[in-house]
Amino acid sequence: MTPLTLLGIETSCDETAAAVVRRHTDGRVEVLSSIIASQVAEHAPFGGVVPEIAARAHVESIDGIVAQALSAAGLGYEDLSGVAATAGPGLIGGVMVGLAFGKAVALARSLPLVAVNHLEGHAVSARLTRDIPYPFLLLLVSGGHCQLLAVEGVGQCQRMGTTLDDAAGEAFDKIAKSLGLPYPGGPALENLARDGHPAAYDLPKVRLGKGNLDFSFSGLKTAAARHAAMLTSPEQAADLAAASQEAIAWQLADRTAQAMELYKLAHPGAGLRFVVAGGVAANGAIRSRLTQTAQDHGFSFDAPPLVYCTDNAAMIALAGAERLALGLTDPLSFAARPRWPLDLAAAAASPSHPAGRKGAKA
Ligand code: KG4
Ligand code: ZN
Repeated sequence: MTPLTLLGIETSCDETAAAVVRRHTDGRVEVLSSIIASQVAEHAPFGGVVPEIAARAHVESIDGIVAQALSAAGLGYEDLSGVAATAGPGLIGGVMVGLAFGKAVALARSLPLVAVNHLEGHAVSARLTRDIPYPFLLLLVSGGHCQLLAVEGVGQCQRMGTTLDDAAGEAFDKIAKSLGLPYPGGPALENLARDGHPAAYDLPKVRLGKGNLDFSFSGLKTAAARHAAMLTSPEQAADLAAASQEAIAWQLADRTAQAMELYKLAHPGAGLRFVVAGGVAANGAIRSRLTQTAQDHGFSFDAPPLVYCTDNAAMIALAGAERLALGLTDPLSFAARPRWPLDLAAAAASPSHPAGRKGAKA
């Protein structure tokens, strides 16, 4: 067996990204290039991602970004073993652009295509820089998702908890907006919170009952918005930002702690590893809170480097390489999916998440 060299393509939200990742036969991973073109400036005037603008921006830049990724890696199409493209879940116009591009490369160069679930990309993102063997407990916290998953192996996830309303990143973004901070709100709110006192505001600590590992951020968001409307000084704004961040971190740590105890029961004798991934994993306060939680419960702690927390194509290339190593490839007829739960069974069975016309949402 030779190493696998994958081109990864990511276009599911507001980043057009391409990367080349090499996975050696012993599992060692080398990121040969990772190019990310952010559309933040295009969406900022609207205070959030506008799907139509995102899709058009992906179309305009995808070929240049892929060319940059190959040239930064010092490779050509002939050096690739396969192409991995995000096929969902995400904003469908954008997903279609990246997947179509990936299919075109696969067809033109007779390469295998791997249609990657964006969430599986986040799930393996910490494995880009550290050897973290399966299984591990994953907290996936991004702008669109907030889930606790037992990751048993490649593409094998069991969902332990999910959000009943907003994702953690969405809560950051919406609270930031009510504080008048620019989009994207997470990093801006974290900055503002540095000067604030979290105890200055008593925001709701949401408990859904012992054993319930689901999340809910809508009450917190509403409470924070009410306080935000009555702010009279920049100091108060910083205090409210700090209190909001603290309340989000508390809830993430509370559910993670419970999940760790359940995970131990389900994995007797296994190494206890915890990984936090997704855009919100870039938050320093949340990282340090979860580091403590992991230590308290006997788990190792890992989080990807900051560049691989938010959306990137290196994680998509690695997820593709792990699948390709197992012979898991997809046909060129594979359709882009706006919704695509990692744990289909749990998503379908959850009474709190009616599937809707297009299938399970989370
Ligand atoms: O993973 P990601 O890039 O995209 C999705 O798949 O959703 O996550 C983006 C989310 C946004 O909601 C953003 O505000 C949040 O991650 N985020 C942060 C931080 N950096 C990004 N939230 C809190 N603190 C941060 N430092
Ligand atoms: Zn993401």
